[in-house]
Formats: sequence, C-alpha cells, structure tokens
Amino acid sequence: MANVTVIGAQWGDEGKGKIVDWLASRADAVVRFQGGHNAGHTLVVGNTTYKLSLLPSGIVTGTLSIIGNGVVLDPWHLRDEIAKLEGQGVTINPDNFAIADNCPLILPIHRDLDGLRESAAGAGKIGTTGRGIGPAYEDKVGRRAIRVCDLAHLDHLEPQLDRLCAHHDALRAGFDEPPVDRERLLNDLREIAPFVLQYAQPVWKRLKKVRKAGAKILFEGAQGVLLDVDHGTYPFVTSSNTVSGTAASGSGLGPSATGFVLGIVKAYTTRVGSGPFPTELDDDTGQKLGERGHEFGTVTGRKRRCGWFDAVLVRQSCAISGVTGIALTKLDVLDGFETVKICTGYRLHGKILDYFPSHAADQAAVEPIYEEMDGWRETTAGARSFGDLPAQAIKYVQRVQELIETPVALISTSPERDDTILVRDPFVD
Ligand code: GDP
Ligand code: IMO
Ligand code: MG
Repeated sequence: MANVTVIGAQWGDEGKGKIVDWLASRADAVVRFQGGHNAGHTLVVGNTTYKLSLLPSGIVTGTLSIIGNGVVLDPWHLRDEIAKLEGQGVTINPDNFAIADNCPLILPIHRDLDGLRESAAGAGKIGTTGRGIGPAYEDKVGRRAIRVCDLAHLDHLEPQLDRLCAHHDALRAGFDEPPVDRERLLNDLREIAPFVLQYAQPVWKRLKKVRKAGAKILFEGAQGVLLDVDHGTYPFVTSSNTVSGTAASGSGLGPSATGFVLGIVKAYTTRVGSGPFPTELDDDTGQKLGERGHEFGTVTGRKRRCGWFDAVLVRQSCAISGVTGIALTKLDVLDGFETVKICTGYRLHGKILDYFPSHAADQAAVEPIYEEMDGWRETTAGARSFGDLPAQAIKYVQRVQELIETPVALISTSPERDDTILVRDPFVD
C-alpha cells in the first residue's frame, strides 16, 4: 500500500490540510481529485499560516502537486492563490505543479448562477460557498463545460459556447439577468489562457510514470463524506463525490491506486451551511467548542455550527468510504470539559436506529442517544506521543475507535504540523 487517500469523514473542515501537509514530506506526489476552491485547508508551520483552497497542500513542502480532472478549476482564483503563496515564499512552477488538461473550468457565469439561486431559494437555501461549484459540475455532466485544454483552442470554441450560452441565457432570463457577454468571456479566457496552460498536461500520464517508478502518491480529498452528492445529507451537500473512490476517477488512475484510506475525523462535530445536524448544540457547550476550536470557515468566514461527536455518522462514513484507519484531530479542543458526550444511536418516531437515514425529513427528525464520559483536566495540546495523553483522553480515543469500528492511525493535538501522534504509518503496510 504505497499510496494514501485522505478524505474528510464528517462535514468537512476536519483538519485534512494539516494532515496532508504532515504526510506530504513522506510522499512523492500530492493530488487533488474533486471539489474546487470551495475547500479551505489551513496549514500551520512554525509562525506561518498557509490557507489553501485549490492548490494541493503538498505545494508547501515543495512536493509535486497535481490538480486532477475531477476538480473544477477557477483559473482567476488559481492565479490569485499562486500569487498569495509565492508572496509567502512558496515556489510554484511547472516542475512541481501540474493541472489536468481535461479539467473543467469554473467561469464567472457559474459564480453568478450560484449566487442568484441561493438568493432565490428561501428556506431551501443550501448555504453554498458561492464559488460556482455546483453550476460548474452541472455544465460538466451537461457536456457544456469549457475545459483547460480548450484554452489552447479558443478559436474553435464557438460550437461549445453556443451550447453553453443557450443553456445559461435561458436560466439568466429567469432571473431577469442579461444574456452571457460572449465577447467578454472569450477575452477573459484569452487573457488567462497562457497562465493556466504553462501547467496543463495529461496528468494521468505523469501519474502513471510516477507510479511505475514506485513513488508514493498522496490523494487529498476536499469536503467530507457527509457532503458527498450521493451519500451525504442531500440536498445539503456539495456537487461532487467526496468518497475515497473518487481518487481514482478524479485523477486518471485505477481503483487499486487508492491505497490506505485515511479518514480525517474531528474529535467533535462541525458543519457550515444549512442541513441536518443531529448532535448540534445551540447552548454554551456548543459556543465553547466553537471558541476553543476557532470554528470559523476558512473560505467564507462563517461561524461553524458545533456539537458532540457523532459515532453513528462517522461509522457510516468509514464504511461507505472504505476507511482503513482514521486521523483523529482537534482532541485538544476537548481539554478541560468536565464530561464529554458521544452519540451512539438515534431515536426516530419511537424506533432506535444504528444508521443515518437517507431522507432529509428523517435526518432532521432523529434524536441523538448519548453516552457520557468523564472528561480530562490535563492538557493534550501539543502532545506528540501516546504517553503524553491523560488516561481519560486515551479512553475517549479508544471508545471512538470501538464505536466507529475503525482503528486510529494518527492523532492531532494542535494546528501545528508536528503536533501529531503517529500510531500507524499509513504509507507502511
Ligand atoms: P480542512 O478543511 O479539513 O483542511 O480543515 P480546516 O483547515 O478548514 O479546519 C481545521 C482547523 O483546525 C484549521 O484552522 C487547523 O489549523 C486547525 N487544526 C487542525 N488540526 C488541529 C488540532 O489537532 N488541534 C487544533 N486545536 N486545531 C487543529
Ligand atoms: P473543506 O475541504 C466545509 C459546504 C458549504 C455548503 C455545501 C455546498 O475545507 O473541508 P458548495 O459551495 O460546495 O456548493 O457548498 O458544502 N462546503 C464545505 N463545508 N468544508 C468544506 O471544504 C466545504 N466545501 C463546501 O458550506 O454547505
Ligand atoms: Mg476547510
């Protein structure tokens, strides 16, 4: 199992970026395979904080970083994010960074549509990041997308633009918006094309070569399993498949490349945007979790909703995504709580459930059944070995792994890269 696939096992923001950055020094390539710049991954290295939305987290360690075909790419955001990181001293060039040339683009009209729909949705609002992710994926499967490779053939774009505009003009008219300004769009694409094309290539070919040489590939998931368009809390989800299997289709490698599936799991639960959240706490405890965990969205700055750990949800995510082992993050945020609770099942209309039902109304109606444990007064912050953890914190970790039926491979005890406890190296069989 030379490769590792990192995915979020809750509603995103589990600390994937930190773990990918930590693992990147052991990998030869880091690949993003789904999502877009709706992701917000925070890396803390010494006194420097890096915030990445589109670039793979491996870029900070200088590891070969690749954006796979499963990602939707906003080329203007890409330019800004690269400039920001270069400003922080990170080197990014075609030797250490590549973009799949069959990657679909997020265009300004996608962002417009995302915003227009959310404003019109009323109570059905999803609470998206507003970055055009959903509309861009719709155009991909609708066979109307403009892709990275089109940037090298802009003189032949007319038929595709006809298809794209016929669709968007009708939608825009419904919102009293003017038709797509084709000339402006083409000019914008002409202006950005050389910047993107310097990194564009058939990345499946590069990855094939990397694999053949026996190199280790680290796949970096964005969002989390509960935001997966099939398996998540539909319709309050993102528009891509966030499960581990997407690593193969979203990069151009077969399913055997996935390797060790590392599910990133926060020691409690958070969610941004709308949708059901059984263990959500609207009280002082929820407030305390949010404050101690600095739970504000990296992309939108929105306050994250917080609640106790939900073992039912994580057990389900681990099963659906074939998780080999988990990285339990933000254990330190639970330091000092007199007692901690874990959700072990749900009550729905008088019945006990050991899984999360599929229908949104049932998902909203389930009542969590809790198990309560003593907390710990000592600090776990900065712990780098199991021996540094208080006995009660170890008990909590053990109870979590028992309930989710998946072993713990790593524990993270602060935002800092090296404050990480290694239980089992996912790169080693
Ligand atoms: P991602 O989207 O999964 O990469 O997660 P985010 O970066 O959006 O959110 C996780 C936040 O928690 C970031 O601010 C991290 O710096 C921080 N973080 C990660 N691991 C830990 C940890 O073990 N303890 C604490 N206190 N913070 C952590
Ligand atoms: P990372 O990679 C948390 C949520 C949005 C919204 C829903 C749909 O940092 O974990 P979208 O813009 O994707 O159409 O929004 O998905 N969402 C995330 N929540 N972390 C993320 O990424 C997210 N990316 C999208 O808040 O509820
Ligand atoms: Mg995030």
